[in-house]
Amino acid sequence: MSSALAYAADPAATVPVPSYLQEFYWWAYVHPWAVRTFERGWLVDLILFGNYERLRDSALAEIPASGRTLQIACVYGDLTVRLSEHLAENGALDVVDVMPIQLQNLARKLPRDSKTRLIHRDSTALGIADATYDQALIFFLLHEQPLPVRRRTLAEAIRVVKPGGKIIVLDYHRPNRRHPLRRPMRALLRRLEPFALDLWQSELTEFLPAGIPLAAMRKHTYFGGLYQKVVLIR
Ligand SMILES: C[S@@+](CC[C@H](N)C(=O)[O-])C[C@H]1O[C@@H](n2cnc3c(N)ncnc32)[C@H](O)[C@@H]1O
Repeated sequence: MSSALAYAADPAATVPVPSYLQEFYWWAYVHPWAVRTFERGWLVDLILFGNYERLRDSALAEIPASGRTLQIACVYGDLTVRLSEHLAENGALDVVDVMPIQLQNLARKLPRDSKTRLIHRDSTALGIADATYDQALIFFLLHEQPLPVRRRTLAEAIRVVKPGGKIIVLDYHRPNRRHPLRRPMRALLRRLEPFALDLWQSELTEFLPAGIPLAAMRKHTYFGGLYQKVVLIR
């Protein structure tokens, strides 16, 4: 790992593995085999039914080349590599994740001279000053989190973004009534991802903290509604 990628953790702070990750997602993010299994472009794309590039590019399109960006949680695939390449000299990218194994995997994917900072933190307690970033990206994290954790993650994302900045969320969404994958996906998510169907049942805005004014919000759905992008303007 090069010094630019040395992941920043407050040595005094402990960052425990959240119980929902340990209980429901050990096979995807916690176990050492998880990274070896899932870090394959074709598999990530298959899991998203061939929509990975479209969703990735739709996230990238929201992020200006300059300014400070926070990515909340690592993702398999090349999203972060593309994001770091997309940034100009005066752009900066920090990535937080609660699992050191995921940060180490990301460090291997980034070029050695990358300026990207990898930060070992929980999304619910970022430990970062208010209004630090111009935008925050949350890519397919919220559906994995139980409701109180999801609310806290959104509150933290909003807190660390400057007024006028963006919080960009991509995640699952309830597909259209006649979507051929509606029934099988419901069954699959119910079995494997116990909190994901919350995003079918509620608008993302329902998980936002009360009392934080947002200047604007826009939403776009993809692939017959199975996925959504929500952009909140602080
Ligand atoms: C962004 S999500 C899922 C992304 C997508 N399914 C993919 O293709 O990778 C997975 C990441 O979220 C991280 N994560 C889960 N809960 C977190 C939390 N509370 N704080 C920070 N990172 C978290 C996991 O460690 C993992 O690296």
